[in-house]
Amino acid sequence: EKAGHKHFMSKEIAEQPTVISEALNFYMSEDGGSVVLPDPDIDFTQYDRIVMVACGTAFYACFTAKYWFEQIAKIPVEVDIASEFRYREAPISPRTLAIYVSQSGETADTLAALRYTAGKAASILTVTNSSESSMARESDMSLPILAGVEVGVASTKAFSCQLTVLLMLALKAAQDRGALSDEDVKTQLTHLRSLPGLLNVALEQSDAIANVAAQLAESSDILFLGRGAMYPLALEGALKLKEISYIHAEGYASGELKHGPIALVDQHTPIIVLAPRDKLFEKTVSNMQEVMARGGKVLLISDEQGLKEASDGVWQSIQMPTVPDALAPILYAVPAQLLAYHTAVAKGTDVDQPRNLAKSVTVE
Ligand code: M6R
Repeated sequence: EKAGHKHFMSKEIAEQPTVISEALNFYMSEDGGSVVLPDPDIDFTQYDRIVMVACGTAFYACFTAKYWFEQIAKIPVEVDIASEFRYREAPISPRTLAIYVSQSGETADTLAALRYTAGKAASILTVTNSSESSMARESDMSLPILAGVEVGVASTKAFSCQLTVLLMLALKAAQDRGALSDEDVKTQLTHLRSLPGLLNVALEQSDAIANVAAQLAESSDILFLGRGAMYPLALEGALKLKEISYIHAEGYASGELKHGPIALVDQHTPIIVLAPRDKLFEKTVSNMQEVMARGGKVLLISDEQGLKEASDGVWQSIQMPTVPDALAPILYAVPAQLLAYHTAVAKGTDVDQPRNLAKSVTVE
């Protein structure tokens, strides 16, 4: 049942090109020119704001999607973790679309948050891996992520499928609101079509990542840095690593480093920098140089051009294929997952069933 893999987690990481292909087929029109949602359709001209709520990895998917909805569809998005949102009595204006993201569709805090917005928001949408779940049933609309069963407690393919569906949703929003021309939507969808192939290329770095991970396994603290949509991924990379390897890890926005966390950096601290060669690259590199000047050991994950420009003096580097900006968070999820996986394997922890954690958190 693990299809030749040692753990469900590694099987599920490897399945990502396939399940993402399925999600793309499901949500794309046959001519590849537009995003098509199952009934009932969502008309984004009805909303002037989006609120996205979830827990854990699903929250980081929401946080990534905030960048897409705002940059691509020009619609303001607020994100929050469910355990805070449900109690903080946030005012919900009537033209709000409330989006809940949950692999299981049964997470207690997310379900309670959903119920809080029922009758307040214009519509409630759930993005889930379980179409029969409580959250799907209690929503006006529910979109499947089509990841298939995810057994590993550490979410991997559900995360990348959530991201894929949310990116398509952001494109649908841009299409409805006229924020992108039909031609631009089509170009973005063509890019998305290339994603499974790019993910396969990223997966080929597994052995190189295992070599680095064997050294990371000796560390007691690890930092993840990213800017823009790579910031939520830095948070996700840190969560994944702590969940299964029990190494303390924190994700930070690169620009926030000098406001405190840089005090942690010494020659024993690995710093993982997630930085495709995009328009924020130079800013991230300057933060990276600040940590290197303080003896920090940098693992730079970037593309060919990024490594050419900035790998001088770094401790290690991992090369990703070059991708259009919008796809980077989905592609770079792969090395983040593989780093956590191989580090946990090197430490000998229980990868699929980490201590103290449950796959579905149905109590508060
Ligand atoms: O089923 P959900 O997506 O609502 O679960 C949310 C979190 O409990 C979940 O993502 C958790 O953070 C994972 N263990 C992360 O790997």
